[in-house]
Amino acid sequence: MSVVKFYKEEHQVPLEMHKVRVVQKLFLPTVEERVAKLREAGNNTFLLQNKDVFMDMLTDSGVNAMSDNQVAASMQADDSYAGSETFNRLSRVIEHVFGTKYFLPAHQGRACENILAETFVKEGDVVPMNFHFTTTKAHITRKGGRVEELIIEEGLDPNLEYPFKGNFDTARLRALIEEVGADHVPFVRIEAGTNLIGGQPLSMENMLEVAAICKEYGIMSVLDASLLQDNLYFIKTREEAAKDMTIAEIIRKIADQMDLIYFSSRKLGFARGGAIVSNNESLILKMKAFIPLYEGFLTYGGMEVRAMEAMAVGLMETLDEEIINQGPIFIEYLVKELSEYGVPMVKPAGGLGAHINASEFLPNIPHEQYPAGALATALYIAGGIRGMERGSLSEQRNPDGSENYAELELVRLACPRRVFTLSQVKYCADRVKWLYDNRELIGGLKWVEEPEVLRFFFGRLQPLSDWQEKLAAKFREDFGDSL
Ligand code: F0G
Repeated sequence: MSVVKFYKEEHQVPLEMHKVRVVQKLFLPTVEERVAKLREAGNNTFLLQNKDVFMDMLTDSGVNAMSDNQVAASMQADDSYAGSETFNRLSRVIEHVFGTKYFLPAHQGRACENILAETFVKEGDVVPMNFHFTTTKAHITRKGGRVEELIIEEGLDPNLEYPFKGNFDTARLRALIEEVGADHVPFVRIEAGTNLIGGQPLSMENMLEVAAICKEYGIMSVLDASLLQDNLYFIKTREEAAKDMTIAEIIRKIADQMDLIYFSSRKLGFARGGAIVSNNESLILKMKAFIPLYEGFLTYGGMEVRAMEAMAVGLMETLDEEIINQGPIFIEYLVKELSEYGVPMVKPAGGLGAHINASEFLPNIPHEQYPAGALATALYIAGGIRGMERGSLSEQRNPDGSENYAELELVRLACPRRVFTLSQVKYCADRVKWLYDNRELIGGLKWVEEPEVLRFFFGRLQPLSDWQEKLAAKFREDFGDSL
């Protein structure tokens, strides 16, 4: 993969391989306003208004910058309820990229998960996966299924440098199938890369081994390719067997072994929408009727045709190494800046965003006071930066109502692709460093309104004391009249 080298090694920084031609003005409220906005938002960064956010690092979902070619293509969309030419163009691109003949459109990733769960999961089933994603698990448990996470041990150690921390423990996969019986395993889900454990990738070798185990037991293999783009970069740069392969070849090698692939195109393809693709017609036929029922007609599936055109171009751009390296190299820069300062980060830098290990950042805040949630609110106070809690708040309670504390308490600083400049990334690092130096001022949170399903999206919390006001006062003291 080509790297632009700087004349002096100490000047080396990630370099944008694009130029900015459309911009959006940002506003940074004062620190006192930030405290007030946070209260209005119930201390939940999902409930903040975007106009009050300076750096929106909540997610990379649906907020990646589009290319000039994507915008141009979206103007040529063929708008029709049925039989649109846009669908045919997108189908051809999907076949080119994944080598799959069949494509069911859906409005986003979780809609694909709904259809998968609806079609294949029954009461008492077990769905093994390297790691769960929030919406995936919610759909499987809604149908009476159970998720089993089979991530390798290294994956749950945030400080361990290991290139493929998203890998399956294949011995545990075999043991689980033997224990519950292949009949109770509707499919094995491979999340490449992982979301909730810091964007850590899987190796190509591991994915192929899982697919081979599935074949051996006659179980369907399902690849969640939502985060595949960054994972491809890591395979190309970290896996010996892939170093001479093109990105297109790597995708095909993996896709050829999967029974079914689905993805959120809010991530993969820098667009909107979702897709389920396969070469197996009978699997597709089982799901097909649900598309017009839940999503929309078979040639748009709830997607806007303009987004489908953007998706087609974005998927082709995913084959370009200089495009897919942009997320990972900026994330790596941010992780390095913060780690060198002593901020506990998930290492090595993964995809999707930089992840702060909140348990280590705030060792005095126990799980039951939600350290990752508290840190996310503190970061908004410190810099108008909106991160996302990826810890216990993001978990579902156990069926008996007790808390199901997360294995990792993380705050994710997502890096939507091609959105932030290097100076903004440096600003983010600066504010996190200040917060780290003032971490003893940060306190915990408690629920005041807790929804039953996907509570992290719209639940409301409160700080356990006036620690947020004290943090803001310290900011004033240190930064004077700065925003
Ligand atoms: N699978 C993975 C691995 C994801 O990261 C996501 C979404 C989905 C499925 C669901 O896709 O949002 O289009 O319905 N992740 C987003 C995030 C929400 O912020 O990480 P969706």
